[in-house]
Amino acid sequence: MRILLTGANGQLGQHLTPLLAARYELITSTRAQCDLTDTDSVSSMLDSHQPDLVVNAAAMTAVDAAEDETDLADQLNHQLPDRLARWCSEHDAGLIHYSTDYVFSGQNHRAWQESDPTDPQSTYGHSKLLGEQAIAKYEVGALIIRTAWVYSALPGNFLSAILGRAQEGMPLKVVDDQVGSPTWAGSLAQASQRLIEGGHVPVGRTEVLHVANEGAVSWYVFAKKAVELASQMGVIDAPVPIEPVGSDQWPQKAKRPAWSVLDCSRYATLVGEPMPDYEQALVECLSQWSSG
Ligand SMILES: NC(=O)c1ccc[n+]([C@@H]2O[C@H](COP(=O)([O-])OP(=O)(O)OC[C@H]3O[C@@H](n4cnc5c(N)ncnc54)[C@H](OP(=O)(O)O)[C@@H]3O)[C@@H](O)[C@H]2O)c1
Repeated sequence: MRILLTGANGQLGQHLTPLLAARYELITSTRAQCDLTDTDSVSSMLDSHQPDLVVNAAAMTAVDAAEDETDLADQLNHQLPDRLARWCSEHDAGLIHYSTDYVFSGQNHRAWQESDPTDPQSTYGHSKLLGEQAIAKYEVGALIIRTAWVYSALPGNFLSAILGRAQEGMPLKVVDDQVGSPTWAGSLAQASQRLIEGGHVPVGRTEVLHVANEGAVSWYVFAKKAVELASQMGVIDAPVPIEPVGSDQWPQKAKRPAWSVLDCSRYATLVGEPMPDYEQALVECLSQWSSG
């Protein structure tokens, strides 16, 4: 099977690349090779490689910047998946696309299920929902994987930011009134590979699946656990004090959902095993950090 992976330099893309390259004929696409906002470049990339499966790990993920750069968010998070789905439907190829917990309102008393009503509160969440809806218009075999709070040992995510500050001995203030399921990009890549291997990309229809590490914690609890483990594992020299704060004390341009936990039981039923717990995944991420 020939797979085309977009966003190969992103958090998820970098974890997917070795897993997919070990099993399939893999073509990776980075921004330097193809600007995904350029319609002609996207078409010629697809036409020249003729993939059996497109895995779209590219997106505009800068949630606050998306409030101002609405056109860019729309191009990457809505129009790009639309274009990919159209090509895949016309060429009998499968599509795996990633979406987000931010398609939900954040007001709930239990983990969000795939069938729950969406109500995004930010431009990013709205653009990702439009992407989901665009794919579902086509008779395409597509799996839309909604995930949440993705982190990795790469720069530019929540974990690397707090550990960077902790390493400099700076005390931290972290939001304690947003609860979700922090997800290591490595766990998400492994789950994606299992779904491909198990033949769970549907044929001729679109399916939505929630895939996140198990657990429900606030950013504050996650930060505390991360700093404690990172210090024990030698990723940082020593722990630093962490103060819980409310979202009102940490103003951000885009509104974040207060309750973002995804119910991943359908994933567990499909592959026969739940996603790893968030602490287990965090330890795995940090051990790669120490060794890398
Ligand atoms: N990060 C999260 O917390 C989170 C949460 C829920 C869902 N998700 C979803 O999960 C998926 C993977 O997220 P991630 O965290 O791995 O994202 P990421 O690290 O931001 O990677 C996104 C990739 O898209 C590429 N890209 C952006 N604009 C491009 C353009 N114009 N042309 C070509 N490539 C372009 C980026 O290229 P460069 O490397 O050159 O910038 C980057 O490699 C996305 O669909 C995201 O919406 C993420």
